[in-house]
Amino acid sequence: MGTSFAERRFVITGASSGLGRRLALDYAAPGVFLALTGRHAERLAETAAEVRHKGAEVVTAVLDAGDGPGMKAWLESLEAEGPIDILIANAGVMTGPAADDALDGFDAAAGLIRTNLLGVVYAVEAIAPFMIARRRGQICVIASTASFRGLPYMPAYAASKAGARIYGESVRGRLAPLGVSVTVASPGFFASPMTERFHGDKPLMVTTQAAADRIRRALDKRAPRTIFPRRIALLLRLLDLLPASVGDKALGDLAVRIGADGGAR
Ligand SMILES: NC(=O)c1ccc[n+]([C@@H]2O[C@H](COP(=O)([O-])OP(=O)(O)OC[C@H]3O[C@@H](n4cnc5c(N)ncnc54)[C@H](OP(=O)(O)O)[C@@H]3O)[C@@H](O)[C@H]2O)c1
Repeated sequence: MGTSFAERRFVITGASSGLGRRLALDYAAPGVFLALTGRHAERLAETAAEVRHKGAEVVTAVLDAGDGPGMKAWLESLEAEGPIDILIANAGVMTGPAADDALDGFDAAAGLIRTNLLGVVYAVEAIAPFMIARRRGQICVIASTASFRGLPYMPAYAASKAGARIYGESVRGRLAPLGVSVTVASPGFFASPMTERFHGDKPLMVTTQAAADRIRRALDKRAPRTIFPRRIALLLRLLDLLPASVGDKALGDLAVRIGADGGAR
């Protein structure tokens, strides 16, 4: 990898599909450097080829977001080539208990937390010291409206996203005085391979493009948070304020089935 002279340098985790891929393509332009990760080399290479076609510099790393030392080493190697301006911690998986199972399962639950929560923490911990040192940088944490209340049909996912959102909200206050801005994004449903595996109502679902546009606008403004659709977040927050039995009943009655993780595709 040679030294990069790009004007804006991005890291996007989970750029081989869905939102991460859309953001990579939307940011791709001459003068932009994009460092992209995912688990699947082929899908990642497809994104990279399109990004390159739009005139951006691109590097890829087949890396598990839950591999802390691997993520740290990669981000440090990128920093050695030039400053990272924006980190978008987007990689995520969604699964839920199988129809006959009460819970997610030991390994599945741990895997969700590792990718969706620890993956964010690892990336932020690795990159923030560099940003703090130059008192400049932006971090975007992709959480979810699923973070606003416990969800009986996806316990570990809801917990992982609540953790990611609260982590992002927490580091935002610590990093702001040090010159680093943090945007916490909590999208509701948007159309992607992830939502194709979600069988149940997907109220107010938007396109991946619409979700990416919202997040880009929030990053352009250095907004502390973006939540959309707000109605879903408000409903879940209201359920959280009502007696637990009311929310448990309302959410427990939803007919939801979640297919296997796309990693198995
Ligand atoms: N879709 C929705 O309605 C929705 C709503 C709210 C929040 N979100 C969040 O938005 C983010 C993007 O979701 P999406 O809908 O775009 O899903 P997606 O199409 O399934 O894409 C997920 C991306 O994350 C990567 N990824 C998953 N596990 C990984 C791991 N262990 N290590 C590295 N990369 C990993 C995937 O790459 P590989 O497959 O190559 O590993 C892929 O690039 C996720 O954090 C998700 O939780 C989604």
